[in-house]
Amino acid sequence: MNEISEGVYWVGVHVPQAGASINAFLITDKKTTLVDTGAIGTQEVVLGNIKGIVDPSTIDYVVLTHNCVDHCGGLASILEMAENAKVVASELTAMRIPLIYGINPDIKVVKNRETLDLGKRRLKFIYAPYLCKADSMFIYDERDGILFTADAFGSYGDPGTEWKLFAEGDITQKLLAYSQMTFGEQSNLANAIERIKGLDIRMIAPSHGAMIREDIDGHIKALGKE
Ligand SMILES: [Fe+2]
Repeated sequence: MNEISEGVYWVGVHVPQAGASINAFLITDKKTTLVDTGAIGTQEVVLGNIKGIVDPSTIDYVVLTHNCVDHCGGLASILEMAENAKVVASELTAMRIPLIYGINPDIKVVKNRETLDLGKRRLKFIYAPYLCKADSMFIYDERDGILFTADAFGSYGDPGTEWKLFAEGDITQKLLAYSQMTFGEQSNLANAIERIKGLDIRMIAPSHGAMIREDIDGHIKALGKE
């Protein structure tokens, strides 16, 4: 079981040949919550991972970090199983989902800095637009200090290596390489990172690559403003 914190599970997909992962997370609490769904091509694996932990029909919320196909592509099939789930998204993501995916789910729109009680945990949504991902939100779990960062703070592992939940050693160069490839111009991402200043962040859970638990301030500094 890929538990990243008590009751919080990585339910994503790892592609060893590429050293890449598409991450999704399941939070088991009074309100069972899925953070992102993975892509169309990975939905069966994600669903299988979820089923290893909970019955998907018990999912209460499907929180979307942003509208991109690698994170929302599995939404339609997840919602078929999670028939009582409410989608939770930023205003812009909520507007884009029907246009991009041709579905009209029940969406709870959350505003910047709004919170959502899950039971023992409370999630805070922080609008963090950067480049093409203008609808992105960072999602902060106030109990354990986990920051779900969408495509920010992503990284690739080395091809052929096995999946590791947590980054080991200094991954600054990996983060910078991913960031350069994905975002090109860094300043926009740095502006998004400005919005998380002051938070007590104890783990970064990106949408791609390993979770970061060590030297969080250093990694934020590396990708943020000087
Ligand atoms: Fe992505």
